[in-house]
Amino acid sequence: MTLPPHDVADLGLAEQGRRRVEFAERSMPVLGLLRERFATDCPLSGVRVAACLHLTPETAALARTLVAGGAQLHLAASNPLSTQDDVAATLVADDGIGVHARHGVDRTGYAAHLTGALDSRPHLLLDDGCDLVNVLHTTRTDLLAGVRAGGEQTSTGVLRLRQMAADGALRLPMAAVNDTPMQLLVANRHGTGQSTLDAVMRATGVLVAGTTVVVAGYGWCGSGIASRARGLGASVVVTEVEPSRALEAVLDGHRVLPMAEAAPLGDVFLTTTGNRDVLTAEHFVVMKDGAVLANAGHFDVEVDVVGLERASVEVHRRVRPHVDAYELPDGRRLLLLAEGRLANLAAGEGHPASVMDISFAVQALTVEWLAGASLVPGVHEVPAAIDDEVARTKLAALGVRLDRLSPTQARYLSSWQA
Ligand SMILES: NC(=O)c1ccc[n+]([C@@H]2O[C@H](COP(=O)([O-])OP(=O)(O)OC[C@H]3O[C@@H](n4cnc5c(N)ncnc54)[C@H](O)[C@@H]3O)[C@@H](O)[C@H]2O)c1
Repeated sequence: MTLPPHDVADLGLAEQGRRRVEFAERSMPVLGLLRERFATDCPLSGVRVAACLHLTPETAALARTLVAGGAQLHLAASNPLSTQDDVAATLVADDGIGVHARHGVDRTGYAAHLTGALDSRPHLLLDDGCDLVNVLHTTRTDLLAGVRAGGEQTSTGVLRLRQMAADGALRLPMAAVNDTPMQLLVANRHGTGQSTLDAVMRATGVLVAGTTVVVAGYGWCGSGIASRARGLGASVVVTEVEPSRALEAVLDGHRVLPMAEAAPLGDVFLTTTGNRDVLTAEHFVVMKDGAVLANAGHFDVEVDVVGLERASVEVHRRVRPHVDAYELPDGRRLLLLAEGRLANLAAGEGHPASVMDISFAVQALTVEWLAGASLVPGVHEVPAAIDDEVARTKLAALGVRLDRLSPTQARYLSSWQA
């Protein structure tokens, strides 16, 4: 097989990567069924797809499904710290996919990888954080005309797309994959909830029971993290800016405080707001010795890492893998996970495969829909039928059966006269 254009760390890791991808695929039955159908129907025949996603075994399962459907796929990694070099290697060596990703590349390398994926002159995009879209609208506008549409995987990316659309700047139709009910419930709430706590525990070895966990942002991700932290025995404090979300947190039994008041109380701080400067110098100076700071929001701007460095007399790098200790003038140390980047991906393994089964089944069906759709530039909702199909297939795979509406019930629900 002639290898496609690629830039990966070591093709010699392919064998190890293959085993890990196959292990993940065993927990991804929905995507597996889709792959069988795609291989028969070839709905993506001749379609070039460029994707910027976290390069994990689960993403490899999506990639292989798209290729089974006939797509020519080029992949860049959406976060250098979550890139798994063995997975990148197997996708190139065994599946003929053009992967442009190396674990830990710097910003220049990251930008080169995005360009590498876009050089395939894609018809469709899959983005996670809006970086491919950004490059297309700034430095590679020459490629825009050839791109028919795309899908966006995460909340922050969808927020950016909506801002671009409001400013009249968005020149592509983009499907808000993040906003599907399945994605919000399963990936953002349950996936981020579990995997973020898992990353904190692995990286620091902290006993969560008995601690105070401060969760900034009580959205889909934050509410999942808070509920998992409580399940592990922590007292949870939530910080919010939206009254309805704050009320939801109160009614769910959590304490809600401004961050200035929560800062001295927390043993573990988890930010998941999609905003910036959530933890800053004013908070660092009052935090407890040994407080853990981790971010689960998309960009590494929620914890002010530069401010933390300025407030410190010394930074002890890698006191454990993924953990840097920032020593304050009075000797207290604050422990920052994964340099303030997405902790669950950078210091853990991201969402469990069974969660990504749902997310990526929605993605694969969205790509199939986009390949045949003719949409105007703007942010589009994913058709509800896609969500329904994924939920039904997952329930069937889990052996869960549903009741069915009787004809009388269906009439009752759809008629205002009854
Ligand atoms: N780590 C992961 O695997 C993962 C998965 C999905 C989404 N995300 C990212 O997590 C972030 C949150 O996603 P979501 O789906 O929960 O979004 P969301 O919009 O449902 O929730 C964000 C919440 O943060 C609140 N908020 C905003 N600014 C705040 C501030 N300064 N202080 C306190 N609260 C504030 C908002 O009011 C909102 O309730 C996004 O950046 C998203 O891209 C990460």
